[in-house]
Order: sequence, then C-alpha cells, then structure tokens
Amino acid sequence: MKVMVTGGDGYIGSHCVLALLDSGYDVLTFDNHSTGHIQTSENISGISTEGRFLGTFSGDLLNVDDINRALKENDMDAVIHFAAFSQVAESMKRPDIYYRNNVCGTMNLLDAMKDHGVDKIVFSSTAATYGEPEYTPIDEDHPQRPINPYGRTKLTVEGMMDDYDLAYGIRSVRLRYFNVAGADSGCRVGEWHDPETHLIPNILKSTFGDGKEFELFGDDYDTRDGTCIRDYVNVEDLADAHILALEYLVNGGGTDFFNLGTNEGSSVKEVFAECEKVTGKKIPLKIKGRRPGDPAVLVADNRKAKEILHWNPRRTLSDSIRTAYMWEKKMRGN
Ligand code: UFG
Repeated sequence: MKVMVTGGDGYIGSHCVLALLDSGYDVLTFDNHSTGHIQTSENISGISTEGRFLGTFSGDLLNVDDINRALKENDMDAVIHFAAFSQVAESMKRPDIYYRNNVCGTMNLLDAMKDHGVDKIVFSSTAATYGEPEYTPIDEDHPQRPINPYGRTKLTVEGMMDDYDLAYGIRSVRLRYFNVAGADSGCRVGEWHDPETHLIPNILKSTFGDGKEFELFGDDYDTRDGTCIRDYVNVEDLADAHILALEYLVNGGGTDFFNLGTNEGSSVKEVFAECEKVTGKKIPLKIKGRRPGDPAVLVADNRKAKEILHWNPRRTLSDSIRTAYMWEKKMRGN
C-alpha cells in the first residue's frame, strides 16, 4: 500500500513516516521545506525498514500541478496530511498566510485526491479547535470555538472534509493533537524548530550552560501550582495512532475525529522538575508574565481513540523528555 505524507519532513510527519515504513507501508513524502525541515530524506536513507521509502516530492500544496504529479506518478492509495503552519502567535499576526497555506492548500490536496480517485486521508487537527475549555478533560463533544486563526483554519478544514466525504466519498480521520513531545527512541528524527516555542525543547536548551535561562510564562493561573497544565502525548505514540487511523479507513471505517492525548495533565513546573530529574542538571529558571492566549488547562479525554482505533499510548512524560534530550544532544554534536 502506498501512502503520500505531506509535511513528511517535519517534526511529527517524520516520526509518522518511520512508523509507516516500520509497519510495511511504501511512503512518498511531499514537502516544500518552507520551515527548513528535511528530517526524513536526510536521516532515513540507508535505514532498513519493512516498507519502501519512495523519496521526497519537493512540491507545494498551493501548486495544484505539483500535487497532481505526485499522486499520478506514484499511484498513491492514501494520504496523511501534516503540512501546515502551526504557530498560534504567528497566526494572529499573519492570518492571510495561515488561511492560504492551511485551508487553500488542503482544498487543493482534496481536489487532486478527488481527481485521482484517492479516497482516504488522515489529517492533523488540533486541540486548538476547541478554544478555551468549558470543561476538562476535553472530549470530542466539547464545543469547537477556536480563539485564534490557527485553530480556525484547522476547524475549517475539518468541515471541508465532512463535505468532501458527502459529495465525493473521500473518507477522513481528523486527529486532534494535544501537546506533542519527545523524539524517535532510535534517535533517527526529532523536534527542531526555529524559532522554538515549545516547552520541553526550550527547557532542555537551557541545560547546556550557555547562559540561556528557561523562561516560564506565568505562575499565577488557577491551577495546583499556578502554572499551566497541558497533556503531553509522546510523538511515537502519536505516530502509532496515524497507522491505526489509516488501518481504520482501509478496513472501511467512516469519516470521524479523535482526540490524541493521555488523559493526564502536567503543569509547567512539573515538566520543569522532570527535565531536571531526567538530565541530572540544575536548570536556570526565570518566571515571566503570562503568554497571551494560553488557556490554564488543556487535557484530553482520549477514550474514543482507545475504543474505536484501539490506540494505546504507553510512553510517559519522562520517556518523552529522555528522547527529546537525546535528540537535542545529537543535534548539538554532544
Ligand atoms: N511555556 C513556557 N515557556 C516556554 C514555552 C512554553 O512557560 O518557553 C509554557 C506555555 O506558556 C504553556 C506551556 O508551556 O503554558 C505549553 O506551551 P507550548 O508552547 O509547548 O504548547 P501550547 O500548549 O501553547 O501549544 C501546543 C501546540 C499547539 C496546539 C496546542 C494544543 O503548539 O499547536 O499545543 O494543546 F494547539
């Protein structure tokens, strides 16, 4: 079975590509490398896997001809779609590029799938489609009222996928990620953003003694220790969920959506303490004011993914920090 992975060179996409190859799928990545990631093509050549890596198609979702060529030349059976802009703060300043890339790009992709008879897609959605939580843990019935353009672009695509199923029979699984963390346990790929905004890599970057203090954004929230609580889901567990979602569609499953999280929240202070424990280092810390747009608590109710996809996330926060630290050291040549 041949799968095209858009954004397959990015952080989550590259882990999913490895999981697909390890599970025996043949994989083509489609990427414009706009964020500088070239993880898969650079790091997996020469690695022995069950499936075949068909290479990277350097193309842009805003160019319909690129998508048509990628699908046609390689005779794809399904698509897993990661390629998107994903920074909340940036989306508030530049909604135009978010709507163009995330919404128009996905529409081009769906149109090309329709034209080439590719009828299965797994899509990276986000907890940001729920907005400010009305209750936690958040289940899939929670109202979706995003509070930023990033979340709204993903929600728009979710709706578009419902309509493309009804009219054209393209079935989709929309996976709503909570906070993704960690790296491949074999240290083949990992997280590398520039600028880095995520919590765990930012804490780990402050362990290298170059004077960079970790900045903690807000300790006056209404939570158990005053810092924000998030649900950190391991990236390898997340990749497994994509394989299960694909199998669900291959076995005739209908269009649906699932939360991907762990049902458990950790505060920023708890994550910081765990990073000190895993690395064995005292990490320099500075408490700053709140970062705009951060809800106090975001925790997933993941029962639906467990029941229907038979997903079983098993890696801990400590596993995610350990693998992220291995990757950070590798990238620094330590
Ligand atoms: N934080 C810090 N210092 C940092 C970075 C983060 O204190 O240097 C804090 C944040 O203020 C927040 C928590 O750590 O309280 C987690 O922040 P992240 O930036 O790691 O993650 P977010 O919860 O903001 O967002 C992530 C994804 C979004 C997704 C969301 C869903 O980036 O795309 O999870 O839960 F929508």
